[in-house]
Amino acid sequence: MKIQILPSLLAADFGHLAEEMRRVEEARADALHLDIMDAHFVPNLSFGPDMTVLARRVVPDLYRNVHLMMTRPDLYAERFIDAGAQTLQFHVEADCDVWAALKVIRARGVRSGLVLRPQTPASAVFPYLKLCDEVLFMTVNPGYGGQAFMSEVLPKVRELRCHADACGLGALDIMVDGGINLETAALCAAHGANQFVAGSFLFKQSDMGAVITQMREICTREYGTKTR
Ligand code: DX5
Ligand code: ZN
Repeated sequence: MKIQILPSLLAADFGHLAEEMRRVEEARADALHLDIMDAHFVPNLSFGPDMTVLARRVVPDLYRNVHLMMTRPDLYAERFIDAGAQTLQFHVEADCDVWAALKVIRARGVRSGLVLRPQTPASAVFPYLKLCDEVLFMTVNPGYGGQAFMSEVLPKVRELRCHADACGLGALDIMVDGGINLETAALCAAHGANQFVAGSFLFKQSDMGAVITQMREICTREYGTKTR
């Protein structure tokens, strides 16, 4: 599996957003992760589609991964696609027709993803995997950056990786998000995750590029070592 590192813009200095986006690109990150919070599905508000537009303008070659923490992602999916989302992820717990929303995303030629809160069983996404390019496991309660990693999510990562392999869906990307640093990324990789979102850990680094390279190397080494 390709190991990918995605800095979360939520942890950037909002006084210098364009510079922060360029810093992510210069650090050779695989994508920029954009967290959309509606103050209903989660208790916090972040930003809307205009931030995706800004990323497309400032760093057009940096892949845009958009994570919708919204009660009604179906009502906004097209707006984020129009804004330049290249992967659009929404929560399986959202109040919408999950099949229909995944189909809309795929029909627009955008990669689709489902997200699970830490308390949601991995099996909640099993019925939808044929319409999903990736599954994101939240390793904190969604809503805020800078929280502590929840290791109880690790068995679910392993469960989905084993299920996907058994179903012939070996190309499914499994992402983790929340409290990711070098140690927790290594644990997630060992359990079968191959995409790693990190906010506060990466943005606080003086040399983000060196740390992303290090994280990629560690995760490549650890990937799948605990899936059996
Ligand atoms: C939390 C967001 C995360 C957040 C991660 O709801 O989905 O993407 O930015 O931040 P850290 O890495 O600081 O936990
Ligand atoms: Zn996120």
